[in-house]
Amino acid sequence: MIKFDYRNADALVVGAENGLNLSQEFDEYKDKIAWIIADLNKRKDKPGQWLQWMNLGYSEETVWYVKEYAALVRNRFDNLLVLGIGGSALGGLAVTEALLKPYWNLLSKEQRDGYPRIFFLDNIDPDSINGLLNILDLKKTLINVITKSGDTAETMSQFLIVKDRLEKELGDDYRKNIVATTDKKTGILRQIAEQEGYKTFVVPDDVGGRFSVFSAVGLLPFALLGLDIDEITNGIKDMDLALKNTDIKENIAAQNALIQYLMDTKKGKDISVMMPYSSRLKYVADWYVQLWAESLGKNEDLNGNHVHVGPTPIAALGATDQHSQIQLYNEGPNNKIINFIRVEEFDTILEIPRIFEYTGIGYLGGKTINSLLNAEADSTRVALSDYARPTVTITLPKVDGYNIAQLLYMLEVQTAIAGELYNINTFNQPGVEQAKNYTYALMGRAGYEDSARSLQAKMSLA
Ligand code: PA5
Repeated sequence: MIKFDYRNADALVVGAENGLNLSQEFDEYKDKIAWIIADLNKRKDKPGQWLQWMNLGYSEETVWYVKEYAALVRNRFDNLLVLGIGGSALGGLAVTEALLKPYWNLLSKEQRDGYPRIFFLDNIDPDSINGLLNILDLKKTLINVITKSGDTAETMSQFLIVKDRLEKELGDDYRKNIVATTDKKTGILRQIAEQEGYKTFVVPDDVGGRFSVFSAVGLLPFALLGLDIDEITNGIKDMDLALKNTDIKENIAAQNALIQYLMDTKKGKDISVMMPYSSRLKYVADWYVQLWAESLGKNEDLNGNHVHVGPTPIAALGATDQHSQIQLYNEGPNNKIINFIRVEEFDTILEIPRIFEYTGIGYLGGKTINSLLNAEADSTRVALSDYARPTVTITLPKVDGYNIAQLLYMLEVQTAIAGELYNINTFNQPGVEQAKNYTYALMGRAGYEDSARSLQAKMSLA
């Protein structure tokens, strides 16, 4: 199991001004946390609660279907191109970057065991879309278009461009190169997929984009890339079982949710930094940023009060950002809580050769890069505590499917518990919808004429 260490968020280590009296806080919040956990587990099967993501680890049917399709198309494609944005892309990016061999796309087909290269087009920069499409052999490329709503402008415009090029290159056969992951009934993509006869997978009801990584949104690309889906679902299930424990002393998601919440609301730490010490976990930090920001940044609480809550998440990478952000974290405003992720065992042990021993870098010889990286994680944590800066540390025994699934699922549950503590709706995103609607209006979508008029008026005022 992954481990969680909160000692450096305690007043005993970082002082009363910046640290929490955690044994007292855990006691004080014991009943509330127990109620929240029990309530989430009670509500999770009810329609409209947006908690179906808590059941994804148990969806044997989805696992079966994604494996079946992956087996069917095995060896047919050299590339997998995922079209999607936000929650439809970030989970896939985080998990594939963590679990595929490093520099996957540069490996030969044999080194990839015949599995395809992977590309996520999660933006609409014309140069990068065009650049990528120019280098991919579309005949050998499987396109997985992912959008829950089925009409997100970024994803659908990518889809239109790719479909057009595919059809021009492949003629009527192009349909075999498209697989759509979307809502089971609604949305324009569902309509198109049915008309055109694409293979489809479902984003289940009551699973929001940022909580969808363990639905077909993530599982399909994982299976197509040869990742061990069972290892992933075992990780989710074991973590789910552990997080059903209503005792805060035993529940790491509840502990960190409470720590992050109290740091923000009591200690003025309204910035939450996610800093893994592993390049393979770089996109886990990006995924966390979206999860935390869209879920907790809310105008209204559940009683309709204007509260404007939400800690600001920041992604950092150890050791790289020690030479970029840590100066600010140590000496700038004391308004952050830093979440370290540390890996105990890497796949590789990389020894530093004993050369230039007579120079000032002689001390490195004979050590491993592994011990250097973890020494840097430890020393940064201690330096931060010397500056009275609170941190918590999540430790992964190693980066594999089981532990990554545990980590992501733990962070999802942590987010849901934090949302309850803030008393907000964790699962909506009205602030995103507003800009989406304005984009539709600007681009002339039918039904958005009023928004277009109000937008034009506002833009000419600006
Ligand atoms: O988490 C969310 O709900 C969002 O980030 C969505 O995933 C994102 O806006 C893309 O939406 P869709 O999957 O409908 O294209």
